[in-house]
Amino acid sequence: MVWFGVSNSSSLWFRVQPQTKFIETLILLTTCSLSKEECALHCLGHRSCLGAYYCGNTKTCALTNFNCAGVQAEFLLSDPNCSYLEACSRTVSCLECGCKNGGTCVQLTEGSGKCACPVPYGGLNCELTCPPQFEVSFRTSCYSFNMTLKGNFYQAKAHCESMGARLVAVDNEEEHTFIRQHIMADEARSAVGWWTSLTDDASEGTWVLSGWGDIPAPFIAWGPGEPNSQGGNQDCVQYHSITKLFDDEQCSRTINFICETEAT
Ligand SMILES: *[C@@H]1O[C@H](CO)[C@@H](O)[C@H](O)[C@H]1NC(C)=O
Ligand SMILES: *[C@@H]1O[C@H](CO)[C@@H](O)[C@H](O)[C@H]1NC(C)=O
Repeated sequence: MVWFGVSNSSSLWFRVQPQTKFIETLILLTTCSLSKEECALHCLGHRSCLGAYYCGNTKTCALTNFNCAGVQAEFLLSDPNCSYLEACSRTVSCLECGCKNGGTCVQLTEGSGKCACPVPYGGLNCELTCPPQFEVSFRTSCYSFNMTLKGNFYQAKAHCESMGARLVAVDNEEEHTFIRQHIMADEARSAVGWWTSLTDDASEGTWVLSGWGDIPAPFIAWGPGEPNSQGGNQDCVQYHSITKLFDDEQCSRTINFICETEAT
């Protein structure tokens, strides 16, 4: 095993492994003509990247967040000179990294895992702390699912801001899965709808993350038949109480909401 330092990023190291995880890997982004070092840095610059495949012959760099549904990349199979650059500080290895503050390691693949952190800790190693009222964490974010707070979309957004947070931005499949599972883990949470930051109230059909610079939605998980714009003015997106998938809803409806903030 070769350890591989990334210049100008003192605390982050990549472990170079042989290619073993292809089938279970979701490729986020591929780039050509990078060096191995540039590929590693590229991964660090991408919020969801947990590791990168680097193929020496084709100089292909593929950022991944593994532990996702199977995506098979042809170039990985066609180039025998590929290696996996694991962002060790992001993918917590049960064997090597360890969980702090009473966190327990959940095995993902052989040699790597993630920490399940007790309240109020968060972050990949449970080294971070979530603010009060943010009862659950995933990766480096903390979330509040407060049963007693309800509001229309705009009140919800304002309330999250008053807590130093924002309405949740669902960035990818893994965060979506985490949120769905957290909703379904409790009967009361499961029975209600939850606002997200997704809206097209400024421009019909253009779904953006409100409070996050109005960036275009990086990820969408519409439920069956959605968005259906029932009544023509369903411009805000909730996790639907039945499907636990995205549903466009009237922004004026009073429902629960999920706030997200960074762990510190
Ligand atoms: C392929 O891998 C070997 C062993 O790591 C290395 O010496 C060689 O330079 C690589 N070839 C290319 C084209 O990257
Ligand atoms: C829910 O919000 C209310 C009102 O801000 C607050 O008093 C309560 O502590 C919150 N509940 C949790 C579990 O954070």
